[in-house]
Amino acid sequence: MTTSEPWWRDAVVYQVYPRSFADESGDGEGDLAGVISRLPYLASLGVDAIWLSPFYPSPQLDAGYDVSDPRAVDPRFGTLEDAQRMINEAHARGLRVIVDLVPNHFSTAHEWFQEALASPPGSPERARFHFREGRGPNGDEPPNNWASLFTGPSWTRVTEADGLPGQWYMNMFDSSQADLNWTNPDVVEDFHTTLRFWLDMGVDGFRVDVAFGLAKDMTYPDVPDPVGLVEGVRLDLDTGSEESQRRRDLVAGSPYMDRDEVQDIYRGWRAILDSYEGDRMAVAEAWLPPARARRYVAGDTLHQIFNFDFLMAPWDAGALARVITSTIDGLAPAPVTWALNNHDTARVATRLGGGDVGVRRARALAMLAHALPGSLYIFQGEELGLQDAEIPNERREDPVFFRSKGEQLGRDGARAPLPWSGDAPPYGFGGQHTWLPQPDGWGGLTVAAQQDDPASTLALYRASILLRRTHPGLAGDAPWRITTDRDDVIVLERGAGFVCVSNCSAGPIPAPDGMVLLSSAPLLADGSIPPDTTAWFQT
Ligand code: NOJ
Repeated sequence: MTTSEPWWRDAVVYQVYPRSFADESGDGEGDLAGVISRLPYLASLGVDAIWLSPFYPSPQLDAGYDVSDPRAVDPRFGTLEDAQRMINEAHARGLRVIVDLVPNHFSTAHEWFQEALASPPGSPERARFHFREGRGPNGDEPPNNWASLFTGPSWTRVTEADGLPGQWYMNMFDSSQADLNWTNPDVVEDFHTTLRFWLDMGVDGFRVDVAFGLAKDMTYPDVPDPVGLVEGVRLDLDTGSEESQRRRDLVAGSPYMDRDEVQDIYRGWRAILDSYEGDRMAVAEAWLPPARARRYVAGDTLHQIFNFDFLMAPWDAGALARVITSTIDGLAPAPVTWALNNHDTARVATRLGGGDVGVRRARALAMLAHALPGSLYIFQGEELGLQDAEIPNERREDPVFFRSKGEQLGRDGARAPLPWSGDAPPYGFGGQHTWLPQPDGWGGLTVAAQQDDPASTLALYRASILLRRTHPGLAGDAPWRITTDRDDVIVLERGAGFVCVSNCSAGPIPAPDGMVLLSSAPLLADGSIPPDTTAWFQT
């Protein structure tokens, strides 16, 4: 990185999912004291920043994304003083801190929503949310046909003061998450206050939840294909098929996703971020293709946007090369972000096939991502090569499982508490009964077990992050070029003679002339690169 560039342009950011990271209090749920105690581990991994998923007061009906007070700490995670200590101690170790901001909705336990429930239709208290009369003779039908991203209708009916069924409120996610009305000045003002609150505490940035969803068409029109629209957000990204284009078009024209007005909201935030010293930033969580994504990073709104096309891409050289090129070119001059997984998706090793093959491919894909220009987001446990945990249905927590009546298993598998040491649950996590169960057989995957093993995934991540920082050819402004003359191999050239080769084919391929810097699996005796392997060369 050149020194004039802001830190986030090529930062390695580690996602801490606080409830499953480390538990100091011993109640089976992670906490901020646990984060503080593991800061040396994070610093030794070589990351530049941590992003913490929500640790704010919450009924935890969507694992903390149902926030009931955005300017406080849930007692299960600690206190505001703990948050301040965490920020300070992270900074003392050279780590930046990004916190989650959840602006699309408040928990129905938030005092505003409780006030709205206690107030009549048409009141200013209700105007902070989307309250509407139902359709049909008795208002028994939802106000329109919009679908929740967690399945089912995106409206829930309330009981009025007279004890009778009354208005409906919008919930794009769970019914415990009431969508906020961003045309209401109270909402705008409250989030400005929240931004300043955490910026004053010293945070370096925000991850903006559902960043494309805040603005709604206030005429609330029906959509032609409600379920297709929801699927369009998550499925079939960048397959290039007609069907995926159709779904993307649905999102682009949607009355409640990716509307132009969200950019006005972010212009207001940007002014606040820019009024603080030290390159404070915001990264958008928005499942959008590059042509739409670029609007969020065009200069006067947010700084980064997650790259879900890459996150969803299969282990396929053609698909990966296409996504890499389309996202870098599509966002330029803004930098791209790369993530292999997060708390909402299957873990990368599971997604790429599971078992030994899945881990092997996950390591190879990580090394490809680590060689690309832009910034990296690593989901906790990815550096240990974890796969999704099997969660028995009676232990599931994800509202997606419940709302879909078990048709969709949901996201709990990726959220099991981290294994730190030992041979059996809780693997040094803390407590005895962890909030989600950990599998048997993670003994060889703990931090303690991998710490001194040069063949471990942890060692691979440390080495690649270090090289990423020190090799001049991997500097943020170093050039990149994909030169692939076969469709099952990616050859990525960066500056200063650095070459990255990913072998997605079924057989070995010859290595380029030069010295091996690092490889995700041992090269073969004749020096060739085995299948499902990425190797870095100095040529
Ligand atoms: C995206 C978050 O990452 C996810 O965990 C959450 O369920 C939804 N937004 C709703 O807040």
